[in-house]
Amino acid sequence: MSVRICVPRETAAGESRVALTPDGAKRLLSDDVSIAIEAGAGRAAGFPDAAYEDVGVEIVPDAGRLLGEADVVFKVAPPSEAEADGLREGTVLACLLRPHENAALIERLAAGGVTALSLELVPRITRAQSMDALSSQSNLAGYKAVLLGANSLGRIFPLLMTAAGTLSPARVLVLGAGVAGLQAIATARRLGADTWGYDIRAAVREEVESLGAKFVDLDEGAADDAEAEGGYAKELEEAEQARQRELLAQHVARADVVITTALVPGRRAPVLITDDVVDRMKEGSVIVDLAGEAGGNCSLSAPGETVVERGVTIHAPLNVPGSLPYHASQLLGRNLSALVKPMFGEDGVAVDLEDDVIGPCCVTHAGEVRFGA
Ligand code: NAI
Repeated sequence: MSVRICVPRETAAGESRVALTPDGAKRLLSDDVSIAIEAGAGRAAGFPDAAYEDVGVEIVPDAGRLLGEADVVFKVAPPSEAEADGLREGTVLACLLRPHENAALIERLAAGGVTALSLELVPRITRAQSMDALSSQSNLAGYKAVLLGANSLGRIFPLLMTAAGTLSPARVLVLGAGVAGLQAIATARRLGADTWGYDIRAAVREEVESLGAKFVDLDEGAADDAEAEGGYAKELEEAEQARQRELLAQHVARADVVITTALVPGRRAPVLITDDVVDRMKEGSVIVDLAGEAGGNCSLSAPGETVVERGVTIHAPLNVPGSLPYHASQLLGRNLSALVKPMFGEDGVAVDLEDDVIGPCCVTHAGEVRFGA
């Protein structure tokens, strides 16, 4: 039995990624797998329709028809209500569904009999590394954050010895050393900055140091219990948070660029830099807050905007991977393919809820909401 994968054009404002690139499509196409994309779906990411046609993808101008014919839909952002309603019963939808924020949409997908797979819920296990879209997209965000910071800073990153004198390197502090933070550290190091990293998970020290950066040790041993299930951070008590903020303040005050990436799954991002800490920062320094979508790690961040407060430029960009749509789409398409391809069999698409990847990331199936159940 053949499987038809459909890829609509993203409709969310500012979303320029596409859920499958021509190269990704080529790897998936076979006698049993056909692929159709909505006309123009890849254009904003740098993939014209002709590049898809060249590898055997069908171009469909009408989004409604495309979705209505799909066995599998690859998307980047969650579908709109209209898109969700346009899916047939039994369709498998895989995307970054933001399940913690989309209860009504999840109900809707369940009511329509759609099997929805949320990329955010793919477990962080070895077998699922190729499917891990949080990692692939965070990696790019960490890289871009450093460029944003460097671009707004009135100094250069590396040590420079010139005939006219020696320029000291910029000091970059990265708060939260998960996937985005580690890539930010690596990128800042490559640009020659004096780079520091901090995380509440003590296990991260070694990774930070292996990148040639220094680990900020607030007080030894305090971070030992900040790791929760799955390697994620747990939320700190308010008193612990206040103490952490105070200890961090002196490190933040000395930095030229602070990149913050601290997240706790399903919660508001912890506030690591309060107004009074910004007050203590040097004039002309820069904060790049990658946690803007979860409320921000800096109390003065305005998600989606750049503000200058007390002489400090504070960027809180949203959808940073979307600002690198070519590579973000390439990686996301591979993540989606790796997740869904093992589901294809002789009888079409099989949803095995016992599977240790599909089970945890399947939020709706056969009319039921499974997320949070
Ligand atoms: P994340 O995006 O959920 O959070 C970013 C970082 O912020 C984390 O390192 C977290 O510990 C830190 N953080 C949270 N609250 C903080 C606070 N108050 N102060 C300072 N830092 C704070 O993290 P991400 O990048 O998704 O990684 C989560 C875990 O998953 C890590 O243990 C990572 O090593 C692991 N992982 C495992 C993979 C695998 O085995 N396949 C793949 C990718 C990540």
